[in-house]
Amino acid sequence: MGKIIVIASGKGGVGKTTVAANLSAALALEGKRVLVVDTDIGLRNLDIILGVQSVIVYDMTDVYDGKIDLMDACYHFSEFGEFYFLPASQTIDKEDLDEDKFIAMIKQAASRFDFVVLDCPAGIETGTKNVMKTADTIVTVVTPDFASLRDADRLLSLAGEYKIRENFVIINKFNQKLVRKKIMPNVDEILSRLGTPLLGIWCYEDSMLSYQNRGKLIVADKKPKCVKEIKNSAKRLIGEQIPIQLR
Ligand SMILES: Nc1ncnc2c1ncn2[C@@H]1O[C@H](COP(=O)(O)OP(=O)(O)O)[C@@H](O)[C@H]1O
Ligand SMILES: [Mg+2]
Repeated sequence: MGKIIVIASGKGGVGKTTVAANLSAALALEGKRVLVVDTDIGLRNLDIILGVQSVIVYDMTDVYDGKIDLMDACYHFSEFGEFYFLPASQTIDKEDLDEDKFIAMIKQAASRFDFVVLDCPAGIETGTKNVMKTADTIVTVVTPDFASLRDADRLLSLAGEYKIRENFVIINKFNQKLVRKKIMPNVDEILSRLGTPLLGIWCYEDSMLSYQNRGKLIVADKKPKCVKEIKNSAKRLIGEQIPIQLR
């Protein structure tokens, strides 16, 4: 049985979709069979950053309604190896998601992949709670600002209620220069607030938006300075001990 990893956050815009896409692709580059699922129903955008928005035919509701097999609804990105994507529905509301069918579909997917990575909506609402019920691991994405940290605190206590076995934090959009100037909290301050093990620190990358607007994953390139840490985060997730390096 594969592992179900939920990418969540309290606050919106912190980089969940960015993390879901790039971490999944990095796991595939490690030789794993990976499915990334957009669960931000009605507000999907994983399809855009993967560059397939204009070719989507089927989505997760077609799969859980039994209209089509999971693999026929997925997009395969062979440049990363065994990396697949299942789009969210754009036509139903979050509240109309059939929870039982959704959970059954994700569990079935986990029997066919090493990792099923779920890109979540922001916040603690019905959508997030449904998704959390399926999780083996939660990766909470935070940015180094106090609003994001406070919202993450609340999300992590929800994860506690659901008794999720494994919890990690990714600090995204980190800027060492701003830490030195004492504008941004440092890593110790962030971690002492959250009390959750760190999976990685992804630095602020000026070119991120340009990759996403072109529908290209930054992790496919070697040059951007965040890429090494993205790949190391995937390696840590599969058990490698790699020290965190700040850039
Ligand atoms: N490490 C990063 N460096 C620079 N910009 C980033 C980084 N991660 C995400 N972003 C930008 O932040 C915005 C929100 O990211 P997104 O992944 O859509 O967040 P969420 O899914 O949490 O709403 C996007 O414009 C994205 O390009
Ligand atoms: Mg998102």
